[in-house]
Amino acid sequence: MQYRKTQAIINLDSIRHNVKQHQNVIGSNKKLMAVVKANGYGHGAIPILRAAVKQGVTWAGVSSAEEAIQLRKAGIKLPVLLMGGWYPEAVPTFLEHNITPSLYSLQQAELLNNYALQQDETIEVHLKLETGMGRLGFSEHQLSNFFKKLGSLNNIKIAGVFSHLSSADEQTTDFTNKQLETFKKRVEQLKQFTDLKWIHIANSAGTSTVNDGISNLYRLGISMYGQPTSDHISRKLNLKEAITWKTAIAHLQQYPKGYPIGYNRTFHTKKDSTIATVCVGYADGYSRLLSNKGVVLVRGQRVPIVGRVCMDMFMIDVTEVENVSLYDEVMLIGKQGKEYISATEMASWLHTINYEVVCNISSRVPRHYQP
Ligand SMILES: Cc1ncc(COP(=O)(O)O)c(C=O)c1O
Repeated sequence: MQYRKTQAIINLDSIRHNVKQHQNVIGSNKKLMAVVKANGYGHGAIPILRAAVKQGVTWAGVSSAEEAIQLRKAGIKLPVLLMGGWYPEAVPTFLEHNITPSLYSLQQAELLNNYALQQDETIEVHLKLETGMGRLGFSEHQLSNFFKKLGSLNNIKIAGVFSHLSSADEQTTDFTNKQLETFKKRVEQLKQFTDLKWIHIANSAGTSTVNDGISNLYRLGISMYGQPTSDHISRKLNLKEAITWKTAIAHLQQYPKGYPIGYNRTFHTKKDSTIATVCVGYADGYSRLLSNKGVVLVRGQRVPIVGRVCMDMFMIDVTEVENVSLYDEVMLIGKQGKEYISATEMASWLHTINYEVVCNISSRVPRHYQP
């Protein structure tokens, strides 16, 4: 039984639609990896992945062994790439759960090779190249050292090579082009030593723009959830925002002009006012930075948050909403009547990105799925 009205509704049809949009862009001979780290950017990794697989996605991307194991335990058979950094303790899980780790240093290559040798097995890896992100990957110099050692690393199989674009969402493509050039050059070098089944560098923004002639896999994250990366890219795509986040009015109260609302009295009513209290707060992932700043929808009308966002509640001024009633739906992200608040708009109030808004919706908020 669910007693609270705060919930996130995820439309899986939108997920499939967004995947399809990207498939149309990259063409049928190239494949997509569904990036479902951080519990599918807050949407729920497993239902999202199942929807994406139905639409033809062939890889899953995660950021930790824990996330990969969660997929395996749910019966996901897809190849899973651990794209992020990892620690020695995770190595046994790679063979046990058939996880493909990223390989980004010689030290880690030796670690993997030694473990695989002990087990009389081979670990498949995707080699990560540093091309301008400054995060994880072999530099040019490290790569040539790695080549020298490759002959002795018999229990590692390099099944793929990848890198990460830092600026694919920008209007100017100079830096991305530079990264692509570096990537291509290094991939060509690598091809002299080993066959490469999978070559990939693009994230969502890159998926819509990168046609580098060598990539055959595209790592689709935020845009799969229908979140735009930037106006100029996403305008071309007709994305559908998959998440709706809503709650309901729990209490309605009249206050006289000048009445203080919320912790530390940061708001006083400007006139006799109707103030509604809703049961969602920063423990649900609704940022406290939206105190006296955020906007929600009630009866299709934009209404402001007044006072501080509390842990479990906040107050809104509904004085101007005709016929406002107890238990009325309150839309935090989504459409109501003719009005719409997107995660991207909410992110702009917070001076952050839509990624953070959706990832932050906490586990306390139940997710419901529309097939
Ligand atoms: C290595 C890697 N690839 C792909 C992605 C997906 O990026 P996006 O959500 O912008 O598509 C991420 C996300 O941060 C990532 O870290």
